[in-house]
Amino acid sequence: MVSEKTRVSRIMPCSVNLLTVASKTERDAMTAGAMFISEDPPLFVVSVQKGILTHRLIEETGQFVLNVASTEQTGLAKQLGHEKVGDKFREFGIATGIARVVQAPTIIGSFASIECKVVTSLPAANFTVYVVEAVEFTVNEDLSPLVWDLNRYYGLGKEMK
Ligand SMILES: Cc1cc2nc3c(=O)[nH]c(=O)nc-3n(C[C@H](O)[C@H](O)[C@H](O)COP(=O)(O)O)c2cc1C
Repeated sequence: MVSEKTRVSRIMPCSVNLLTVASKTERDAMTAGAMFISEDPPLFVVSVQKGILTHRLIEETGQFVLNVASTEQTGLAKQLGHEKVGDKFREFGIATGIARVVQAPTIIGSFASIECKVVTSLPAANFTVYVVEAVEFTVNEDLSPLVWDLNRYYGLGKEMK
């Protein structure tokens, strides 16, 4: 049974991103929500739980890729959304590409890959909140972005006018 506090945190629909990060010797991927906070400069905000590999690698490198999940990556978003140890890229057979500016890999088949550099961060509960600048991006508009709400995954519905 989900508590009311947990439930309220799941009410707001959010984007589903496959966050990838890498140092010279280690790499990791995890599912994360994110939202934009400024258009010019293009800033986003992401929060990452302390104590996990992704968090350590972001602290080390100050950069990562937000691969905006496509509806075709629902299974992968679920796989990367649960605690796991080991090399997730190998375990889940993730096809990677090379980012143009940052040193983290992109994930092929994503709706978009947004290359991010950390501008500032602040602690919040057991998370670190990162404000990041998008320094490069690619988008595949033949695909559709995935949306998460009330712990379920959706594609976008019809356009409202
Ligand atoms: C849709 C969705 C969104 C998530 N958003 C975040 C997030 O923004 N920050 C976070 O730390 N964990 C988030 N999680 C949980 C992490 O993906 C999960 O704890 C992940 O396994 C952490 O990586 P680990 O295997 O290295 O522990 C989310 C999970 C899902 C399914």
